Amino acid sequence: MKTTISLIKADIGSIPGHMTVHPNILDLMEEEMDRAIEEKLILDAHVFNAGDDTELLMTHTKGVDSAEIHEFAWNAFVKGADEAKEIGLYGAGQDLLADAFSGNVKGMGPGVAEMEFEERPAEPILVFAMDKTEPGAFNFPIFRIFGDPFCTAGLVIDPSMHSGFKYTVVDVKEHKKIQMGLPEEMYDLLALIGHPSRYVTKYVHSKDEKRGITAAISTEKLSLIAGKYIGKDDPVCIIRAQSGFPAVGEVLEGFSLGHIVSGWMRGSHRGPLMPVPLEYSQCTRFDGPPRVVGLGFQLKNGTLEGPVDLFDDPIFDSIRQRCADITDFLRRHGPFEPGMLPLDEMEYTTLPAVLTKLQDRLEDWE
Ligand code: 13P
Ligand code: 13P
Ligand code: MG
Ligand code: MG
Repeated sequence: MKTTISLIKADIGSIPGHMTVHPNILDLMEEEMDRAIEEKLILDAHVFNAGDDTELLMTHTKGVDSAEIHEFAWNAFVKGADEAKEIGLYGAGQDLLADAFSGNVKGMGPGVAEMEFEERPAEPILVFAMDKTEPGAFNFPIFRIFGDPFCTAGLVIDPSMHSGFKYTVVDVKEHKKIQMGLPEEMYDLLALIGHPSRYVTKYVHSKDEKRGITAAISTEKLSLIAGKYIGKDDPVCIIRAQSGFPAVGEVLEGFSLGHIVSGWMRGSHRGPLMPVPLEYSQCTRFDGPPRVVGLGFQLKNGTLEGPVDLFDDPIFDSIRQRCADITDFLRRHGPFEPGMLPLDEMEYTTLPAVLTKLQDRLEDWE
């Protein structure tokens, strides 16, 4: 049996401001999932939140890009947004950009990570969700997990991983994609994914066809879809671990830097990506700092056993402390780069208005 995992997310409203999801919204989404399981549309589901983003994790047998599954998720989000409006939540329906469902939620606002595969006898599934950042924020950990032997020992010592992985990278501005092999094309790959606002890792596959896909990341760019700022893209990712893929601990090692990402406060600042347990999945100081949550499952015939809260461990305390120290330092930059994003990545466009106001006073210089 081939199983599909769909992780579909949207910001449909939050409390207070852009901080976290209201419990009533999560309850409502759970009711929707229970109904879909009863109606045999999906096999299993888990609802959670990353900051102000509502995440629907579903298993089914309908393949990726299934209109039925996408429509179900869309309708659930629309119901949730209605409830959010009723309660008076902030940004109710923020990510639902279209008026009606049109076959696929991609391009309609929600973010989607999906993969289909033949289940192994024991199938560890890890899902990650970030808030206050952009899809390219996954470039760094994904590279470390699948490409860096200083992170993933298996690349060196596990014969089934020694030949490396295949990356699919998308250019979110030009809407192009390219597949590249690691380690042989490592330097070319890094030349692209080191620019995460434009080149975004979308999939990672084993070079062994039988093993198939190991990672899928959402790459929807809200700002480009809508043509104006309506919130950052707050991405999600699914990773299959172990037995020819990186071990669970190697995957988690990929998140151990607290690397600097874009998208904090008004989508216009840089900050450290802090790995947190679900309990701390709410963005507070300066609407952040940006954070990532991780959930671990064992999958059997489409049933998700779990979750285990992956960053709920004191070993991540020192990383969180480093993120707090970087936060103190970066915030002291106020409206200066690199605390604030460079002009072409800003989600707000105040500068033209300021320049218009100053127009008459602008003089030629040299
Ligand atoms: P408002 O301009 O709606 O207060 O939102 C600012 C903000 O938090 C950006 O999303
Ligand atoms: P979200 O994209 O998480 O809604 O955050 C908006 C924002 O800019 C908060 O400062
Ligand atoms: Mg929001
Ligand atoms: Mg968000």
